[in-house]
Amino acid sequence: MSRKYVIAGNWKMNKTPSEAKVLVKEVIEAIGAKPENVDVIVCPPFVAVDAAMGAAEGSFVKVGAQNLHFEAKGAYTGEIAADMLNDLGVSYVIIGHSERRQYFAETDETVNKKVLTAFEAGLTPIICVGETLEQREQGITADLIRMQVKIAFGGVTADQAKKAIIAYEPVWAIGTGKTATNEQADEVCGIIRETIGELYDGATAEEIIIQYGGSMNAGNAEALLAMPNIDGGLIGGAALKPNDFATIVKSAK
Ligand code: PGA
Repeated sequence: MSRKYVIAGNWKMNKTPSEAKVLVKEVIEAIGAKPENVDVIVCPPFVAVDAAMGAAEGSFVKVGAQNLHFEAKGAYTGEIAADMLNDLGVSYVIIGHSERRQYFAETDETVNKKVLTAFEAGLTPIICVGETLEQREQGITADLIRMQVKIAFGGVTADQAKKAIIAYEPVWAIGTGKTATNEQADEVCGIIRETIGELYDGATAEEIIIQYGGSMNAGNAEALLAMPNIDGGLIGGAALKPNDFATIVKSAK
């Protein structure tokens, strides 16, 4: 099995364009040389994407966005289309983060539309799924995750699916300092892989990159990334600290 690792920083609503330039430079310096078999991505806010791209130019760091709209263009005040991201040279886009589901009314259906739009535009989607604490306590985590994955991948071909990245982010672990245990995280990432196998085939399930996200940090990354079904991380808070982010990147081996 030859999956690579993908470590992505989700900067959320942090960093101005000028600050983003500085942080990208610091991240590159802290990591040093391109780690073998690890893709490193940073996802700044839209207005800082261009500045981050400039700072990352010629380095191993790739830049992604945190959202996109599913329509190509038109009367959608405040929204950003896939073409606009493409024009900037962005290659990744986070879709369906739980904060977008919670605060901006995103649903499994809008996530699916956005995933299809991203693929059409040649962007790699980082598709977020995850259960709330209440859902975990109700014992419906596996059912819910399967459903989120199945709806997100509606109409997606096997060739496209192979290129997707899925981030398992238990909502109760995001920004709370509460990480899922290595076993809990690996179990759900395994369920996601199994679901992709059911939707497509074994080869697609083997190839797809599945990240864990939710309070991943410099101290717990190595053990999480050593789990068989975890191929990377979607990092929030720790992605804003260059040395911590670099430690996480270097933990992926
Ligand atoms: P966190 O956020 O690392 O701060 O928990 C992760 C995420 O929301 O992607």
